[in-house]
Amino acid sequence: MSAYHICAQEEQMTKKFYLTTPIYYPSDNLHIGHTYCTVAADAIKRFKTLQGYEVQFVTGTDEHGQKIQEKAQEIGLEPKEYVDRIVADTRKLWDTLDINFDTFVRSTDEDHEKNVQDLFMKLYEKDEIYKGEYEGYYCTPCESFWAESQLLEGHACPDCGRETKLSKEESYFFRLSKYRDRLLQYYEDHPEFIQPAYRKSEMINSFLKDGLQDLSVTRSSFKWGVPVPFDDEHIVYVWIDALSCYLTGIGLGTDEEKFKEYWPADVHLVGKEIMRFHTIIWPALLMALDIPLPKKVFGHGWILFDEDKMSKSKGNIIYPDPIIELYGVDALKYFLLREFSFGHDGSFNVTSFIKRLNSDLANDLGNLVSRTVSMLEKYSDGVILQPGESTDLDKELQAMATNIWKENEEAMENYQFSVVLDDIWKLVRRTNKYVDENEPWILAKEEDSTRLNTVLYHLAESLRIVSILLSPFMPHTALEIRDQLGVKTEIDWEDAKVWGKLEVGSKVEKKGIIFPRLDVEEEAERLWASNQALIDERLAAKAELAKSMGLVEEGQEEFKEEISIDDFAKMDIRVAVIESVEDHPNADRLYVLKIKMGSEKRVICSGIKENYTKEELVGKKILVLANLKPVKLRGVESQGMLLAAEDAEGKLSLATTMEEVLDNAKIS
Ligand code: ME8
Ligand code: MG
Repeated sequence: MSAYHICAQEEQMTKKFYLTTPIYYPSDNLHIGHTYCTVAADAIKRFKTLQGYEVQFVTGTDEHGQKIQEKAQEIGLEPKEYVDRIVADTRKLWDTLDINFDTFVRSTDEDHEKNVQDLFMKLYEKDEIYKGEYEGYYCTPCESFWAESQLLEGHACPDCGRETKLSKEESYFFRLSKYRDRLLQYYEDHPEFIQPAYRKSEMINSFLKDGLQDLSVTRSSFKWGVPVPFDDEHIVYVWIDALSCYLTGIGLGTDEEKFKEYWPADVHLVGKEIMRFHTIIWPALLMALDIPLPKKVFGHGWILFDEDKMSKSKGNIIYPDPIIELYGVDALKYFLLREFSFGHDGSFNVTSFIKRLNSDLANDLGNLVSRTVSMLEKYSDGVILQPGESTDLDKELQAMATNIWKENEEAMENYQFSVVLDDIWKLVRRTNKYVDENEPWILAKEEDSTRLNTVLYHLAESLRIVSILLSPFMPHTALEIRDQLGVKTEIDWEDAKVWGKLEVGSKVEKKGIIFPRLDVEEEAERLWASNQALIDERLAAKAELAKSMGLVEEGQEEFKEEISIDDFAKMDIRVAVIESVEDHPNADRLYVLKIKMGSEKRVICSGIKENYTKEELVGKKILVLANLKPVKLRGVESQGMLLAAEDAEGKLSLATTMEEVLDNAKIS
């Protein structure tokens, strides 16, 4: 063997890949937007591992800063105690989602804090950091500096609205300005560095074109952070602290061997709003430290909710928990990766979620698995039998099945998950069509079973390949399919490249439906309701906590955002009379009420069974939101909503009018 070959072989054996998610701010109750990047990173790790790479995947939490300090104070905890709780929940969620990370870095870890101090010291010694003055508009109550452009009218603080003062604070600065040209040059020499490519022009036009300012990298107005090693008035401001987690996570300061093997990172996956930190500040810091730059920074889009940014205060948030509980982890992963294009924003909508589940997972994949295994059980006792000679149709299916891995590899170069999954589904759909084209139920009537066996073999074999291709994205489903097919071997990428690996004589076994069909409307309603219930539950828990800390007066809930009279005018609220009350046939806690508003009769489902007997209700006049879009609740359409009051102790009372008025009276 020549030296060249030995080398090439060695390289083959030690292909390394290092990827990261952002280092998340601790946040209780992460929403599906937060899970997006981590789910994507997990898929990349699994894909690269299948391809034969040794992969390190680092994630973590960015725990310092003024906001955390304040939030902890608010509820009377030390910052570390406060973040410990949240981080435990975050890790639990990653666990539930079966996220296969290798290292979880907390910016409060001792080895990380030491790294931050060492890096800071090194930068200072190299004169990359100097002491200066940070000038801005200071809000004393908020202890925050603002740029003039951020202020409200009258130089008011954008957070609290109070007046700010132009003032100066001592701060250390990183000489970011001197890296402008080197950064531009680097972008030009490494076109793959910023992905998707259009984000590069954003960075250049918005930030680099007009020059860069030196960056303030310490604060002295709060304490929750890593102290500057030689000046304990100051703490290192969050970005140096957070970004260098990527170095700590791969062994800097603790495992130099590993660090040498894996750094520079192959890819940092980040949301689009933090591209600037990762493609300007981070590479400049690394240049200053003489550390090689990451090979790629990929900026993904945001998951919006009905075109709007998800936020707790707006209440337009979708949590992963109900999705996982109702439909499983793989359904969530599939949807996130298939529905949205990784570089672009996308809008989450419960109906499109259920529709996709129904069409792709139940009708296409679930159905293919189910009919394949059923037919094998029915026509050949569940045994995979020797196929006969291949027809052109068979060969076409074989060719397609053994080619998808190549397309997948190409699309994964640019993290185009939706393209990858779409390509896999082309095979799933093609195979379903192959069933219809070959009609095994008719072949089963023939005396010679060769053709039947061939067709059944093709179905199972195609699914075997699907199971490998799917495994990085839907690991549980992949295993379930293999289990039903009776495939005992480990998942191996090479096995997706060849036809005929499914062993003749092996036995399939039906073990239930992997994705059942859903009634889209009803299911969307169910998901919506359980997400809403979780939002309410979490708000209540928060209110409870605040109450127990003596932070709010009993029963005093925050008022909602202001609306205009036009917003109110959209609501059609009327007086209605209850004509009859029955138990809901499928829901223990619901009544089905028949109501009348003038000549209009309606049916309304309502959860007031614990509060009122049927007798108490019949004949009563109540208030109804009459133009609420009807929804099906457990099979009964509810055409409006009763209005009721609920106090802080949970007592509920139906709303009615002070004087007797005719039904159908309008509320305005
Ligand atoms: O920015 N859709 O942390 P973070 C998609 N600590 N992604 C979303 C999203 C949504 N609706 N909402 C949030 C920070 N994200 C810093 C990072 S890295 C050295 C320091 C993404 O918790 C967001 O784009 O605010 C970001 O990439 C990630 O969640 C963490 O955001
Ligand atoms: Mg953020």
